[in-house]
Amino acid sequence: MKEELLAKIESLRQDATKALASFQNLKELQEFRVHLLGKKGQLTEVLKGLSGLTPEDRPLVGQAANQVKQDIEARLVVLQKTLEAKDKESLFSAQSIDITLPGLDTGRGFRHPLSLVNEEIETFFLNLGFSVYEGPDVESDYYNFEALNFPADHPAREMQDTFYIGGNAAPSPSPLLLRTHTSPVQIRTMKNQKPPIYMICPGAVYRHDDDVTHSPMFHQVEGLMVDTHIRFSHLKGILTLFCQTMFGKERKVRFRPSFFPFVEPGAEVDISCGLCNGKGCRICGGDGWLEILGAGMVHPHVLEEVKIDPKKYTGFAFGLGVERIAMLKYGIDDIRLFYQSDLRFLEQF
Ligand code: PHE
Repeated sequence: MKEELLAKIESLRQDATKALASFQNLKELQEFRVHLLGKKGQLTEVLKGLSGLTPEDRPLVGQAANQVKQDIEARLVVLQKTLEAKDKESLFSAQSIDITLPGLDTGRGFRHPLSLVNEEIETFFLNLGFSVYEGPDVESDYYNFEALNFPADHPAREMQDTFYIGGNAAPSPSPLLLRTHTSPVQIRTMKNQKPPIYMICPGAVYRHDDDVTHSPMFHQVEGLMVDTHIRFSHLKGILTLFCQTMFGKERKVRFRPSFFPFVEPGAEVDISCGLCNGKGCRICGGDGWLEILGAGMVHPHVLEEVKIDPKKYTGFAFGLGVERIAMLKYGIDDIRLFYQSDLRFLEQF
C-alpha cells in the first residue's frame, strides 16, 4: 500500500514535469491543474488514500505527496504568468487591433464649487481639532427657535420666515419646519455631549428669500466651541485665521456688534473687499467691507436650556454662508448659477 502510493506520487511528478514543458496556452494549463489538483484530481485522490495507511506510514507518504503538490503548484503559477504575458503580446501584435486608435472620451467630472468650498472649510476646522456633525433638514420649532432663545413672538423670527410642513415633534407639541439655519445642531450637540465640544456642522437651510444673492435653499456651516475659559478672543483669533486662510493673508477682518438671540455679545464679521482693497467699489457697495458670517458667545439661556452650567462653561458659536463665501472667492454674481447644473458654469472650478 505504502510503496504503491509512493510510486504513484513519483509517476505523477514525472508526468507533471513533462506536461509543464508542453503547454501552449492557458486553457491547457487550467485543464491540467484540474486534472491533477482539482477536487477529483489524481494527486487529490492520492491524498485521500492516506487514510488507508498505518499511522507510521501516513506522515511519510503525506509529506511526499504534499511536497510534490507544492512544487507543481509553484511551477504552475510561474508558467501561468509567462503564458498570460504571451497571450497579451500576441493580442497587441495582431493586425486586427489598432492600439493607436484613441478611446471613446467619457467626459471628466467636476467638483461643484459649493463642494470645494465646503471641503476647504471642513479641512481648516478639522486641522484645529474640530469634529464634523450633521443634523436634520426637517427640524422642530423647538430646536430651530425656542431652545435658541427665540420665544414664539420674538421679532427676530421675522428675518427667518420659513416653510412649515405640518405635523409636530417632541418635546412639547412643537411644529415641524425646514430649518432656517444650522444653529439647531448646536442644541442637538450640547444635549448629547458634555463639554469640551469643538464641532462644525455643514448643511442645507431654508428661508422665504429669493433674489440674485438669496435662494430659498442655501448652505451654512455652523461652528461651536464650548469649554472652560472660552473667551471672545478665541472667537476672534480663530475666525480671523479662518478668513485669512480662505481669502488671503492680506485681508483685514472686522467684528461689528450685531444681534442674534442665542449669543451675547453677538457680532457680524466682515472681510476687507478684495477688489478695491477696502477703498470702496461696486462689489462692496462702497464701504470697502464684505459681510461673511455671524458669530458670538453662546448665550447663558442657551447653556441653561441644554443643562450646561454657564458659570463653569463658556463657548462661542458662528454660522457662515457657503454660497456667500463661494461667490466672493470665485467672483460669482448670481446665486442661482449654483443650482442650474449648467456645465459651462460648473466646468470652471
Ligand atoms: N444662525 C445665524 C444665522 O443664520 C448665524 C449665527 C450662528 C450667528 C451662530 C451667531 C452664532 O443668521
